[in-house]
Amino acid sequence: MADDDFVEETEGAPGDEFEEIDVSDTEADRIARKRDREFAEFRKRVKDADQFKVEAGAFDDATYAAIYKLVQDGYVAALGGPISTGKEANVYAAEAPEGETVALKVYRVNASDFRQMRDYLEGDPRFEGIRGDKKSVVLAWTRKEFANLKRAAEAGVKVPDPIAVQRNVLAMEYIGGEDEAAPTLTDVTLENPETAYEVVKEYMRRLYDAKLVHGDLSEYNIVVHEGELTVIDVGQAVTTYHPNADEFLRRDCRNVANFFSRAGADADVDDLYAFVTRE
Ligand SMILES: Nc1ncnc2c1ncn2[C@@H]1O[C@H](COP(=O)(O)OP(=O)(O)O)[C@@H](O)[C@H]1O
Ligand SMILES: [Mg+2]
Repeated sequence: MADDDFVEETEGAPGDEFEEIDVSDTEADRIARKRDREFAEFRKRVKDADQFKVEAGAFDDATYAAIYKLVQDGYVAALGGPISTGKEANVYAAEAPEGETVALKVYRVNASDFRQMRDYLEGDPRFEGIRGDKKSVVLAWTRKEFANLKRAAEAGVKVPDPIAVQRNVLAMEYIGGEDEAAPTLTDVTLENPETAYEVVKEYMRRLYDAKLVHGDLSEYNIVVHEGELTVIDVGQAVTTYHPNADEFLRRDCRNVANFFSRAGADADVDDLYAFVTRE
């Protein structure tokens, strides 16, 4: 399956252009183990204070410690209410020291389907040598979403700006208004589906040019705010070197083309795939 054309164009091994990702940082685990007085107070404050609106016991010690570290590092000042409760992660609103809102995506180390996650890390040059246990996989996954957001943003795709990552907690730009997070494409009626489709097509192509395939792209993972489309949920995005990258891309094309057809745009799966891959 060696792709000679491609090898000729590339210097070094496929994937060399990806920065390696360090998942050895378990500062939050160290804090949680040490449980110093300040951390214990923070944990209590989060549990007690009304402003935090987080049910007691929502996080385990190491997750509290990861959020505490984000507070210490100056990214977060206070925790807000949940925006979304998902299978793999919950998303919370939080307040940054300057008062602006940020989004915290908190991955569940225990409930996560880490076997499936592990399959998505396969063949990713950034994650060679990651241990296969649940915690390592979920922590790598969180860093992967952070790295993917960065890479997508650099490629010119509108995504939430990544801010920081600690253990299983990802801090990123919050997309939405004061009272509510931005709706997904499932929850809006598009005034101009043709234009929106053009934007998503272009995002998909830029992502592909940056050697990433979203892998879960659909109307559920695109939000609309102030007339702009933002792609979210890039944790599972794989490099084009992943053994299933092409299958994932075809599925993304199918989801997107079907959605925009239904919305009234002139969208076709094969045309979209050809546009994205420039084939
Ligand atoms: N940066 C963000 N700003 C505002 N809302 C967000 C942000 N990221 C995620 N959300 C909200 O949280 C929901 C779940 O986030 P997502 O990343 O798609 O996780 P999941 O894996 O649970 O689908 C989204 O549908 C969106 O409503
Ligand atoms: Mg999602």
